[in-house]
Amino acid sequence: MAQKKQNKFYITTPIYYVNDLPHLGTAYTTVAVDILARYHRMIKDNVFFLTGTDEHGLKIENQAKLKKKAPQELVDEISAQFSLAWDNLNISNDYFIRTTDQAHIKAVSQVLQFLYDKGYIYKSRYSGLYCLGCEQFKTENQLVNGECPEHKKKAEKISEQCYSFKLSAFQEELLKKIKSDEFKIRPQERKNEILSFLKNEKLQDVAISRKKVRWGIPFPFAKNHTTYVWIDAFLNYLTGLGWDGKIPFNPLLKEGKRKGELDFWPPDLQLMSKDILRVHATIWPGLLLALGLPLPKQLFIHGFFTIDGQKMSKSLGNVIRPDELIKKFGVDTTRFLLITACPFGRDGDISWQKIQDKYNADLVNGLGNLVSRVLTMAEKKLGGVVQAIYKIKDKNLEIKDQYQKAMANLELDQAFELLVNYGKYLDNYIEKNKIYKKEGPEAEKHLYLLLEALRILSWYLLPFIPETTDKIFSQLGLDATKEKEKSFVKAIGWGGLPPGAKVKKEGILFPRIK
Ligand code: MSP
Repeated sequence: MAQKKQNKFYITTPIYYVNDLPHLGTAYTTVAVDILARYHRMIKDNVFFLTGTDEHGLKIENQAKLKKKAPQELVDEISAQFSLAWDNLNISNDYFIRTTDQAHIKAVSQVLQFLYDKGYIYKSRYSGLYCLGCEQFKTENQLVNGECPEHKKKAEKISEQCYSFKLSAFQEELLKKIKSDEFKIRPQERKNEILSFLKNEKLQDVAISRKKVRWGIPFPFAKNHTTYVWIDAFLNYLTGLGWDGKIPFNPLLKEGKRKGELDFWPPDLQLMSKDILRVHATIWPGLLLALGLPLPKQLFIHGFFTIDGQKMSKSLGNVIRPDELIKKFGVDTTRFLLITACPFGRDGDISWQKIQDKYNADLVNGLGNLVSRVLTMAEKKLGGVVQAIYKIKDKNLEIKDQYQKAMANLELDQAFELLVNYGKYLDNYIEKNKIYKKEGPEAEKHLYLLLEALRILSWYLLPFIPETTDKIFSQLGLDATKEKEKSFVKAIGWGGLPPGAKVKKEGILFPRIK
């Protein structure tokens, strides 16, 4: 039989600034991308998941001064903290790119030379307003009383000689590609926002060099200028694949280097929040068009969340670090709490109380209690051994289509909700049929349904809470590694739990927390 061709799936997070440690905001995007990467691996796509750190620019230069450190020392320290935080959150990225990597720096330099030779970069003078928090030039109408609405700080007047990138040349092409969804922006309201911007305002060329900033990649043809940090940062999505900056573009990865001989370009999905949408929908595709490269297939803009109704900020002292949650609740629970905190794609609010309540309802009293209940009955009534496969028709247990639809639409919180409801259905099933009172063949039949449903439920949970899934598989008497080698379609078919499997309750999945 001919083998189905494997789809490639290239997914990215933004690369995070290293002027701050990882917090729940950056963790949110990273966990979401991890869930999607794991889901696509589960359905046997060929996945490349890239994340990393954005390490140049004035913001970092200033932070280093403040901390009395050399910029390189500071970025090494904080970048390592990001890497560690993502390891602690069980993030399965295929590569971690740093913009201070020599290979990245070399590639950026080559790109600038290429664009200069092609006439897309020209010498000019910039005079205008700059928000350091955003590391972006701003127009008057993007500011409120001269302040950046995002960072609540006055934009600084800058006037200097610089090199500019001819972004204005791409206005029509961008408009067309966004409108037709060739370059898709989701959710729809974000696409509308960008379309209305491109229809109503003239796209300005971008000043892409800075004379006063020292902590940046030197311009290859004007060494007293450094590269605007966003140009440097965008190219990570290319260099992170191992691209060396040579044109014609050849993103083929060499055998043995990172992932095997594969062409992952363009990204299938790039996740971020609304704060960096505008630049990702203009400068980023503009650069690619100038380089003659295909655009990403899709940008997905998830919501921005607040803590107890307030923006998370160091000055307010309400910043929550992912490690605090991990320490209190464990890794999988932290992943679950983040992803179910608000509807994916909408803004939301997080509070310790909500976190605690959700944990108790969905995990302690929900999934954890269900698994424990079913396993206890199986130990008691079946002697802990699965007797036979019972073919059971119960349409409430068939959630494959709804689940796959939710995952494909990036309704991550809803996909999880579906699984919570699946668990509730099984709980009701126990009550309705009074399984705890059944004995003999009757008990065998009902318990097979429950155990097998738990196995299938674990498959669906796998991208979200992978450690818990392994624990459930092993408590069902399965070898988790072997189980996960199955194809997804086969694995979620009924009857995968074989006769003879030794079921054993081991510990508590989600301990009650005071
Ligand atoms: N370095 C740039 C991105 C360059 S990508 C070529 C940057 N870095 S950042 O550290 O500020 O990260 C911004 C991103 O972090 C947001 O777009 C979002 O993905 C995530 N979040 C940061 N705070 C967040 C919330 N409070 N809520 C949701 N996501 C948040 O911008």
